[in-house]
Amino acid sequence: MIDYVSDRIGLTDQQKHDETRQGEAYAPFSDDPNLYKKRFFIESYGCAMNFADSEVVASILNNNGFGATKILEEADLILINTCSIREKAELTIRKRLTEFRSLKQKKKGLLVGVLGCMAERLKSKLLEEEKLVDIVVGPDAYRSLPSLVEEAETGQKAVNVLLSRDETYGDISPVRLNSNGVTAFVSIMRGCNNMCSFCVVPFTRGRERSRSAESIIAECKDLFEQGFREVTLLGQNVDSYYFQDEQNEITVTFAMLLEKVALISPLLRVRFSTSHPKDITDEVLFTIAKYENVCNYIHLPVQSGSTRILQLMNRTYTREWYMAKIDRIKEIIPDCGISADIITGFCTEEDSDHKDTLSIMKYANYHYAYMYYYSERPGTLAQKRYTDDVPLETKKNRLYEVVALQNKLSLESNERDLGKSFKILIEGDSKKSDTDWMGRSSQGKVFVFPKEDYKFEKGDYAFVEAISCTQGTLLGKIIK
Ligand code: SAH
Ligand code: SF4
Ligand code: F3S
Repeated sequence: MIDYVSDRIGLTDQQKHDETRQGEAYAPFSDDPNLYKKRFFIESYGCAMNFADSEVVASILNNNGFGATKILEEADLILINTCSIREKAELTIRKRLTEFRSLKQKKKGLLVGVLGCMAERLKSKLLEEEKLVDIVVGPDAYRSLPSLVEEAETGQKAVNVLLSRDETYGDISPVRLNSNGVTAFVSIMRGCNNMCSFCVVPFTRGRERSRSAESIIAECKDLFEQGFREVTLLGQNVDSYYFQDEQNEITVTFAMLLEKVALISPLLRVRFSTSHPKDITDEVLFTIAKYENVCNYIHLPVQSGSTRILQLMNRTYTREWYMAKIDRIKEIIPDCGISADIITGFCTEEDSDHKDTLSIMKYANYHYAYMYYYSERPGTLAQKRYTDDVPLETKKNRLYEVVALQNKLSLESNERDLGKSFKILIEGDSKKSDTDWMGRSSQGKVFVFPKEDYKFEKGDYAFVEAISCTQGTLLGKIIK
């Protein structure tokens, strides 16, 4: 039975795997308690950008004499990197803050800091609402964290929620937290200039800006040299990546960047997220097709299959435009894995609009999807302009239908793979058994297969035949 209370219904094992990252504590840099003046504990919620940001924060703190701990009770500074995307996300964080509150009452001098999108959205209001929070820092102000901690130590409330037009943290080497040593996120840009009417991100993350290509390549090379074998280039809208150096001599587009990263080594897989249907270019598709190590996988959020709703959402494409993009992807990269984000019950959505969403899902034949029901967010265009008029019950029922359809599409997609062989990047032991490996295909599908007597290690590539499947995982057998 699906939990209707959740606003986001987990679909595949792959997603469950991704979601286990949420809220996990991070590995310490050193076990020696005397090495650092203070120890911090950081917990992250929300999208991959937030997880990548926590690695930047860890680096800033580390360079200022702080050490990480994954034991909450050991921390002198608790940081929570927050998400505002849906109401449920904020409620989860509020609940966690009440847990920190009781720790704070027990431990004198313990500081609690709120980072990320909820910090940006609520600013100092957060300090009034959550009395025991000491520090509030928005996504563009992480460099000021060490001085804010000092301020908070003197008993003052410390806030910095200034958004920046140029901060990219390009010069900071993120400290890889909780890493499997094989896959890593690399932030290539920040902010978002799109104004999807339902979305809070442009308000919490500010204007779009691209990080220098040079610093991105250097970070990817460094990761490869450390043994990492996959990088995911991150931005809210990667296709609008555009970097121009100060002399206007060098211009780098996303397709060019993708190529540069691909050329680091054929052994380094490259993924990226997220593409906007209006911006993804043929050039990007041809680059994916040209380089074997650029994964054949595109996350192309559709949000709705109805042109009328897409217009209200300010997505700036129509149903037909989106379908033509899907056709183009399939033409240029025939075995491309495609996934999407879908929202049910947006303002004024009728049954006929909902049917359009179901039919576009079938048309695109997504191999998986992230699905949500609409949650009105304060300050967004939709909140200002439209009435959130679809009853919750209807939103949830439509979400249930969307999930049921996607489960079917995912299972069929996996069944089509049976008997075929795939090049799998081994990420580590499977969750259930250390005699099995877990890895992913280029299309991003999760494979689990027995180690047998082969001498593979994590970070190696294995050719695996798909033998059986569920909707979320393919079970396989090594063929070489
Ligand atoms: N920049 C990315 C993703 C941003 S947020 C993009 O453009 O696709 C991730 C997903 O959360 C969105 O794609 C959307 O499906 C969902 N989302 C955003 N705001 C929402 C809201 N108010 N209610 C429900 N889902 C929302
Ligand atoms: Fe939000 Fe739209 Fe920007 Fe994505 S592209 S972050 S959905 S405004
Ligand atoms: Fe959430 Fe902010 Fe990401 S609102 S989805 S953490 S950009």
